[in-house]
Amino acid sequence: MSILSATLTRVKPSPTIAVSTLAAELKAQGRDVIGLGAGEPDFDTPDNIKAAAKAAIDAGKTKYTAPDGIAELKQAISNKFARENGLSYTPAQISVGTGGKQILYNALMATLNPGDEVIIPAPYWVSYPDMVLLAGGEPVVVECGIETGFKMTPQALEAAITPRTKWLIFNSPSNPTGAGYTRDELKALTDVLMRHSHVWVMSDDMYEHLVFDGFEFCTPAEVEPGLYDRTLTCNGVSKAYAMTGWRIGYAGGPQELIAAMRKIQSQSTSNPCSVSQWAAVEALTGPQDFLAENKVVFQRRRDLVVEMLNAAEGLTCPVPEGAFYVYPSIAGCIGKTSPAGTEITDDEAFARALLEETGVAVVFGAAFGLSPNFRVSYATSDAALKDACTRIQGFCAALA
Ligand SMILES: Cc1ncc(COP(=O)(O)O)c(C=O)c1O
Repeated sequence: MSILSATLTRVKPSPTIAVSTLAAELKAQGRDVIGLGAGEPDFDTPDNIKAAAKAAIDAGKTKYTAPDGIAELKQAISNKFARENGLSYTPAQISVGTGGKQILYNALMATLNPGDEVIIPAPYWVSYPDMVLLAGGEPVVVECGIETGFKMTPQALEAAITPRTKWLIFNSPSNPTGAGYTRDELKALTDVLMRHSHVWVMSDDMYEHLVFDGFEFCTPAEVEPGLYDRTLTCNGVSKAYAMTGWRIGYAGGPQELIAAMRKIQSQSTSNPCSVSQWAAVEALTGPQDFLAENKVVFQRRRDLVVEMLNAAEGLTCPVPEGAFYVYPSIAGCIGKTSPAGTEITDDEAFARALLEETGVAVVFGAAFGLSPNFRVSYATSDAALKDACTRIQGFCAALA
């Protein structure tokens, strides 16, 4: 009998981490590799946040904390929700976890019974279906293609709802496409949810601050206050404040759910890192200029990448509203053969040949549930992006 649990056989390791690992291995072998796989800003954490962490260490704030966060951070998050989202969550309605990932995981663990369905629009962030499976639920994947801008239509949502639906996981701007829902598009979805009172919404707002061309970010509980009692509004400091390694994410939601999430956390990780929590207090209450400065850099990179990828033979790259990803289609490359002899049968073959033959690491679309595409993370220097896109253009032109 295997030592491993049956549940584990239902899930796969994160493919995005696998790509980063393979790229790192090739680099270690001396290959000239450009990694466009990692989903993290290349900026350093701002100095004021680092200083707050150092001060916390010096002040001895190095002990266990309350399981789901110190009072000061919960208050800072409550203020953030009011200030930026027009949402009123008391500190008792807030949970802080070890990254946005743990928050989502806790919520699913706290709510799913065997057979419960969770609607996940595809392309999706790689962890959603596997977290649902780990929690004993059933992912219901709804493909949202390039023709609808990778966004779910109200008709598609309506068709996916069954009596067993527990959650819709909503992510805007999206990883992996960067697609952001306008207020009207989101309202059309919340109108559907208003007709199905048993369905809750888990809104993953991780890329809230990375929106371009004046795009207005919005979140379900704000767009439809009637959903407030069945919405978990999730966010974190990882992407906006370049704090991926600090591991702080948070959510606001109904008190009963927040208490259940606290119970899970108290029996697993106890609490998020105390020093990181003090750093997050500074991130949310300190100067916010960093956000606007970053946005300008990311928008410039997005424009550069979209233009260069659209100039590559066989690729079509929509212009995303936010995040730091693009999700070009490789439909025009399928059936061709690479210079080294790989037949491009699907996006996985494309990404593998691209990495092996040009040293550019991207993540294939099948990992995100929608093919044939690949994801580029443009959270890297302009020079590296230009070099990588030039190599991609060369690779596509050489396909025969
Ligand atoms: C859509 C989305 N949600 C959540 C997360 C998790 O963020 P964290 O690093 O805070 O766990 C990520 C990270 O890649 C993400 O892309």
